[in-house]
Amino acid sequence: MSKALDGIQILDFTHVQSGPTCTQLLAWLGADVIKVEKAGAGDITREQLRDIPDVDSLYFTMLNHNKRSITLDTKSASGQAVLEKLIKRCDVLVENFAPGALDRMGFTWERIQALNPTMIVASIKGFGPGPYEDCKVYENVAQCVGGSASTTGFEGGLPLVTAAQIGDSGTGLNLALGIVAALYQRTTTGRGQKVMAAMQDGVLNLCRTKLRDQQRLARDGFMKEYPQYPAGHFGSAVPRAGNASGGGQPGTIVKCKGWETDPNAYLYFVAQAQVWGAICQVIGKAEWLTDPNFATPATRLPRLTEIFSAVEEWTKRMTKFEAMRLLSAHDIPCGPILSMEELMAEPSLRATGTVVEVDHPTRGTYLTVGNPIKMSDSSTEVTRSPLLGEHTAEILAELGFTPSEVAALRAEKAV
Ligand code: COA
Repeated sequence: MSKALDGIQILDFTHVQSGPTCTQLLAWLGADVIKVEKAGAGDITREQLRDIPDVDSLYFTMLNHNKRSITLDTKSASGQAVLEKLIKRCDVLVENFAPGALDRMGFTWERIQALNPTMIVASIKGFGPGPYEDCKVYENVAQCVGGSASTTGFEGGLPLVTAAQIGDSGTGLNLALGIVAALYQRTTTGRGQKVMAAMQDGVLNLCRTKLRDQQRLARDGFMKEYPQYPAGHFGSAVPRAGNASGGGQPGTIVKCKGWETDPNAYLYFVAQAQVWGAICQVIGKAEWLTDPNFATPATRLPRLTEIFSAVEEWTKRMTKFEAMRLLSAHDIPCGPILSMEELMAEPSLRATGTVVEVDHPTRGTYLTVGNPIKMSDSSTEVTRSPLLGEHTAEILAELGFTPSEVAALRAEKAV
């Protein structure tokens, strides 16, 4: 089967998580991704959080599947000559260096354009233009400056970062879409362009419902679906709302059988308005069906604590899976809190390629996430990440370097 991005070559200057997420996705879609790494060192994540001595970490392998690796000293003259050839040959250069690093290397947008006017240059930075544009940024910094930490957590508690890597992986996804759109536009303009995705922008974009609420709060001074309503205090900024969600569809996390010892014996329960009748029947509160206090979403809002307590009395009698089965039979939305351990073992995720087992020459087999995007005419086969410089000779040969020229480059440590 052909792949959506067959024939596209990506010059991959990314490292750590955000950029590699983007280029891994492009590789899964069929692009030939050439990862450029510092000779002798490589992407710093190769050695971070190692679980096996001298073996590429899971951190690295899980972000760099389906890529080829070339080592190159891009600050040496001969390394730069190799890089020029790569720029002329590739369709896209992707980077997530600290601000200005590509320019300091001597590869400004103007120089790249002169070498290859069709090249798309795609970058991830922590911030867009503005007061913080020169700052380095990592995941949790992005979550804090993008509005996520301020709005995650419980009232009276600290701001919280989330485990989902919305700053790194989230921004990588944005960049991948920008690249694919630029490739599409190039088919009519014939030109490359710059594509930029800032981590702060990406996190804020994902927090749009909180920006919505900020404006509602500014207008009304309160928000009825928040746990602070009616008795609590609303300040001037959107407060942290714990696990609450929605006005018409309030929800929260409730305990299930075994919660005393199992940290994941919980279920997210949504009191969706459309199935309110079914909820009352299932949890044994038929009397609420005719009680005007519980008749509409608006009359139920101030009684959510009472409602969720009753739901929890019911869910505590069964496992999260039993509760889900019973609730789903009535179309009542809910979700068991699934641990990583449970997700790893879930057969349906293996069957769809969302979780895949990969073999690695020095690590052996391990589990990783596969492509979350499923396409009927462009399937994804996840292949292992490259060893450092594994494809240096192969790529140099494709660029026209003879074996003796390759030996000379190696001798002067340019590759
Ligand atoms: N050959 C020679 N030098 C190389 C090279 C190569 N193949 N690859 C990288 N370098 C150099 C760079 O040119 C840079 O040199 P300079 O500082 O003299 O300009 C140096 O290595 C370090 O690169 P940098 O990206 O600044 O790494 P860092 O470890 O200092 O910073 C980050 C790491 C992630 C904080 C930073 O890259 C960053 O802010 N990136 C943008 C935001 C981002 O993606 N953050 C999330 C990461 S998950």
